[in-house]
Amino acid sequence: RHHILSLADFTTTEYDTVLQTAASFQEVLSRRTKKVPTLQGQVVANLFFESSTRTRSSFELAAKRLSADTLNFAAATSSMTKGETILDTAKTYLAMGTDIMVVRHREAGVPNAIAAEMDRLGVRVSVLNAGDGQHEHPSQALLDLFTICTLIDPASPRLELLKGKKIAIVGDILHSRVARSNIWSLIASGAEVHLAAPPTLLPKLFAEYISEELGVRSQELSSHFPTPPLFLHWQLEPALQDADFVMTLRLQKERMTAHLLPSLREYHQLFGITRTELQLCKPNVKVLHPGPVNRGVEISSELMDDPEFSLIQSQVTSGIAVRMALLYLLGSGKA
Ligand code: CP
Repeated sequence: RHHILSLADFTTTEYDTVLQTAASFQEVLSRRTKKVPTLQGQVVANLFFESSTRTRSSFELAAKRLSADTLNFAAATSSMTKGETILDTAKTYLAMGTDIMVVRHREAGVPNAIAAEMDRLGVRVSVLNAGDGQHEHPSQALLDLFTICTLIDPASPRLELLKGKKIAIVGDILHSRVARSNIWSLIASGAEVHLAAPPTLLPKLFAEYISEELGVRSQELSSHFPTPPLFLHWQLEPALQDADFVMTLRLQKERMTAHLLPSLREYHQLFGITRTELQLCKPNVKVLHPGPVNRGVEISSELMDDPEFSLIQSQVTSGIAVRMALLYLLGSGKA
């Protein structure tokens, strides 16, 4: 694999390779020096056409821990403000010797378009999708997977550890690229995945799309898919009942037209996760959130900061080792 744009076609072997490689880099990060010479001489360009805190910073730190040189681009302070196009921007970074382009854009498909242009030019540049519109956020889903798997077996994180676990994904699924990437990895693991969202925040055609692609169980479709991996709910309770993990999602106000934006108080009452809702889950349930968080909307401030339940800080920390793994696998041609 030359680019990482989506998890839709990731294989079990690929997931396990990322998890095991990330585990070995986590060991490196626990050493005093925290650095390896693996990508010395390579250039990693972070092309962020949309804002980011954790993805951009952790890709930069991951590249530095691998001894690569890093270039950081932010659209607002770039020559795009003078009319330069996305592809011309990418070609400019290519001309500077970039080996790996980490791309985020608010429109779906931009990383694919840059990857296609690099392939058309016949250059060995890898493109890594760091979040494109409502499409996918593969590195986030992989770090979520790593966070969960290392909790179950720190010595040997692997996809099969999630087989049979009940995982609830709650909230603004309509606008969530994180949910889309997570659905692919969790389904591949054999986990039982439950989506819970208000009807306005589930894609209209999602049920049919998922039913074709993955197999879905909604009341209407259950007869067609007797052993489905994915369940849809318009209420919170059935998704949380006996769940092992709860993934909360940010209400993406910036992607909503006014008529979609729910009352934040009502949303919190119906779909917000607090310690009270967690009583429905397994006793040792853990809660994830990709960040950034709307405190007190999708998750209570108290729960977010509760180390007994919240994996939010671990997710951020895991992101460095997982992104080191992705850069290493692409940079060394082993992906
Ligand atoms: N989870 C995530 O993508 O966060 P950032 O937008 O801060 O990168």
